[in-house]
Amino acid sequence: MGNQITEYSAELYDYRISVSSRLSDAWQGLAAETDHLHQAQMRSSEDIALLLQTLAKSVKAEVVVDVGTFTGCSALALAEAVGANGKVLTYDISDQHLAMAQKYWDAAGVADVIEFTKSDATAALKQLAKSTSNSVDLIFMDANKKAYSDVFELAIRLVKPGGYIIVDDTLWAGKIVESDSDIRQVPALREFNESVSRDARVQAVVLPIGNGLTIALKL
Ligand SMILES: C[S@@+](CC[C@H](N)C(=O)[O-])C[C@H]1O[C@@H](n2cnc3c(N)ncnc32)[C@H](O)[C@@H]1O
Repeated sequence: MGNQITEYSAELYDYRISVSSRLSDAWQGLAAETDHLHQAQMRSSEDIALLLQTLAKSVKAEVVVDVGTFTGCSALALAEAVGANGKVLTYDISDQHLAMAQKYWDAAGVADVIEFTKSDATAALKQLAKSTSNSVDLIFMDANKKAYSDVFELAIRLVKPGGYIIVDDTLWAGKIVESDSDIRQVPALREFNESVSRDARVQAVVLPIGNGLTIALKL
């Protein structure tokens, strides 16, 4: 095994952020307001938001799908990457935090780029896949873990060859390798991870950032 960082201290996380590119003031404001919420841990961390932007820019993304809007942190990061002529389609079963999201999407000048739909993600992507295929540049999956396999299958249909399917929470903060884990999402995540690793339609790597992040390049 090559050199590995086995523990991430808060200091190392802060250092990583300090030597990475900076997200916009609007994104920082949205993250700070989200952090006052009881479910703040659900928002994308800064390193993941930066990685989403970097990957979206690397493929000059124009059409992006964001599964799981919450307060809109991932949608905002992606909208800033696709630019004024791009589109971010974002889905959530709840619109509880939409007003907060929209305030910062407006502040960033990307409200017109983001299209929110209140819907179950699988149902919404099934609907989308009826009208288009091989047309999306990047999909970020960050909602219902039990539906990951179904959503991934739809994502494969929707994403262009050379585009990305990015999946959050795939290591469940390390619990994935604990044999006695009682986290209810872990069995579905293990099954999902194993099926992605065998999937010849993608090249995938799982990174230990955030709660674990899978980056799958559609071949
Ligand atoms: C982890 S949060 C998303 C965080 C967001 N991507 C961000 O960057 O801050 C997960 C969201 O998925 C939504 N969700 C849960 N089940 C869903 C489903 N079946 N379809 C669509 N959204 C769902 C929840 O309401 C929640 O807002």
